[in-house]
Amino acid sequence: MIDRHTLRLGVNIDHVATIRNARGGGHPDPLRAAHLAAEAGADGITAHLREDRRHISDEDIDRLMGELTLPLNLEMAATDEMMAIALRHRPHAVCLVPENREERTTEGGLDAAGQHNRLAPMVADLLAASARVSLFVEADPRQLEAAVSLKAPVVELHAGAYCDACYEGDGAAAGRELERLQEAAAIGAELGLEVHAGHGLTFDTVGPVAAIAEVKELNIGHFLIGEAIFIGLDASIKRMRALMDEARAETLSTS
Ligand code: PXP
Repeated sequence: MIDRHTLRLGVNIDHVATIRNARGGGHPDPLRAAHLAAEAGADGITAHLREDRRHISDEDIDRLMGELTLPLNLEMAATDEMMAIALRHRPHAVCLVPENREERTTEGGLDAAGQHNRLAPMVADLLAASARVSLFVEADPRQLEAAVSLKAPVVELHAGAYCDACYEGDGAAAGRELERLQEAAAIGAELGLEVHAGHGLTFDTVGPVAAIAEVKELNIGHFLIGEAIFIGLDASIKRMRALMDEARAETLSTS
């Protein structure tokens, strides 16, 4: 029996809110999804409060903070508005992400290296509020070094390029992108960072990322919520959890 907490699963509930918002009203309720996720084996809940509030709302964050039994990982852009919200709520974790109104989803990593002076006081204020700060970055050693110099304890590696290559059936590119993730995870751990990964992960793509021994947490949303339409949220999360555990058990048995 492996300790599942060697690899945590953060369930991102943004797209429950996307479906709710398509009609207004309160159904389906992201908080109900969060409770179900907790029962299905999630270790945490992730929610991205976007500047345009296209899915998660301020009220969702209020309710999650008030009622959630699992730790909340608040994803947000590094803006004054979001900082005020995070410092008011003091969630367990804050993941700083780049945000662009035109994008359909978070398309790239945060330029932690290029924005050092702007990010430094924000990271410091969040740490002072006891938030576990993570920076959502590309698998690029320069960004990992920047995270260290910003004193962010955690990085989340953007897995999107690997997942896109898998989806497009480009095995060579998928192999290269996976190698980049593996190398970045090793460098990150060597630098003393806690390494997470996320974006675009599915049943088909999660295994090789879950197998990376240095990765401590995966944050997964869109696929889990989409798959829930067909098999239910409980089954969707449990299957993801099982695939993660299988891949990690394999790593542990060969190390
Ligand atoms: N991690 C981060 C930092 C993200 O921005 C997102 C998307 O909001 C995810 C994980 C989850 O990605 P997906 O919904 O593609 O699983």
